[in-house]
Amino acid sequence: MSLETPRPISHNPIKRLGGEALHQRRIGSFPPGPVSYSASRTMAMVRDPLSVLLPAYRKYGPVFTIRVLNIRHVFMIGPQANHFLLVSDADRFRWRDGSMSDLIPLLGDGMLTIDGPYHRRARQIMLPMFHRDRVSATVETMVEETLGALATLEIGQEFDLERWTRDLALRIAMRALFGFDPDQTKREVDIGREFERALHFYSVDYLVQVGRGPGTPFGRMLAARKRIDRVLYAEIARRRSQASGGDDVLSLLMEARDEQDGTPLSDREIRDQVMTLLFAGHDTTTSTISFLFTQLARHPHELARLQDEQDRLFGGSQPTPSQLATADLALLDQAIDETLRMYPAAWIGPRRCVDGFDMAGVHVPTGAPVSYSSWASHMLPDVFPEPEAFVPDRFSPQNKAKIPKGAYVPFGGGSRTCLGMRFGQMEIRVVATLILAQMRLELLPEWKLVVRMTPTLGPRGGLPMVVRERTLPASVRFLGGSA
Ligand code: HEM
Repeated sequence: MSLETPRPISHNPIKRLGGEALHQRRIGSFPPGPVSYSASRTMAMVRDPLSVLLPAYRKYGPVFTIRVLNIRHVFMIGPQANHFLLVSDADRFRWRDGSMSDLIPLLGDGMLTIDGPYHRRARQIMLPMFHRDRVSATVETMVEETLGALATLEIGQEFDLERWTRDLALRIAMRALFGFDPDQTKREVDIGREFERALHFYSVDYLVQVGRGPGTPFGRMLAARKRIDRVLYAEIARRRSQASGGDDVLSLLMEARDEQDGTPLSDREIRDQVMTLLFAGHDTTTSTISFLFTQLARHPHELARLQDEQDRLFGGSQPTPSQLATADLALLDQAIDETLRMYPAAWIGPRRCVDGFDMAGVHVPTGAPVSYSSWASHMLPDVFPEPEAFVPDRFSPQNKAKIPKGAYVPFGGGSRTCLGMRFGQMEIRVVATLILAQMRLELLPEWKLVVRMTPTLGPRGGLPMVVRERTLPASVRFLGGSA
């Protein structure tokens, strides 16, 4: 279409690191913070960023600089800083010029890597698919897919909940958002497996990501991308040859026309948006469901409350899609909100500052890389007392009303709030409810949660769980006071 396409960005990591270091010399002074070279800080930022960000926040306040390798990076943490970056002064920041551009080799110029009019147009085109009534209409598909996946599990079986959910979420996204038949495409290319291969690149350590050529994680990512592209382009060609459009995202993208000259989106533009939604829409929900069931296995009284809520609402029978779309599952929603507070899947929002500003007594220069972190902001004890504790009641209607503006941002905020928020919330609610209705998931006694940071927060190495009968021991239900 006639809007100017985004300018290309180099993917050569050496060029990028070198270019950034040179660029930073020209910018001038950054906000205060730990900026001496430190290998241990660099490692800590990769393995356990909260152990760097939270002490820096305590020492320097809401805006500070952290040096990682040879690069200085500004962080903005806490309610006011989030509101500034996401809402009131969002125009001072760009997504494409920050480290979101690391996603370009896989996703191209999709929603997460574009800005300005090009982004606004794409959002406008896809918005109708994410309205409340459209999302409700996809619940039937969500239920069908979830019941199919649950049928593969048996009492006593050990399985990897994260992997199980990842496959399920991808199938749901393919069918509900794009009208793809996952079984048909699987016969050609197993998109789920290829996606896993491609995403693996983003979960290896940064120094390993630097390698290029066949056999490197980058090379394997490009090869997987090629195989996924073949399926996506074939589907686009198939739809172009059929005149009748549906109301899924792919059809909306294919029908969109430029307001001025009436030209359609190119195949490449459509592919980039589809790939971005598949990426943004399955990893995030997967990790939220994984963390939710980790917490429920550790907090049987909270689990008992959710089971009681279900029994009260559905009388012990399996809920129908329309019940799932409309039921007031208040306690489940609170448990999901609390899970997203403790483990916000998209934990960091990287940007580039394009219009310098002063905040909290410090100056952030034009050209600086700047990030907000929902994860660090959700762990501030002055905002969320005892932040390490799983307390869904923080999100009861009375308590929720007291949470300061900008304090809770698992879906970002402002004009670029997560496009798939309603879809993701509905999917988590459907999958969680159907699991809860059929079984209880137990952690292995020796298993320890180690959180992985990229591409989204998740349990490192997967989440082995054992399927048990739904009933909880009577002692737990009695102590929980909700039996
Ligand atoms: C629990 C589930 C999800 C979480 C926690 C989540 C989180 C987020 C966050 C934090 C952002 C903003 C990032 C930033 O400010 O830097 C975002 C943006 C986005 N998300 Fe989600 N997301 C979820 C599910 C989904 C789903 C299901 C889809 C699509 C099917 C989706 C599509 C997008 C898109 C397209 C954007 C970019 C919006 C724009 O730039 O206008 N997300 N998401």
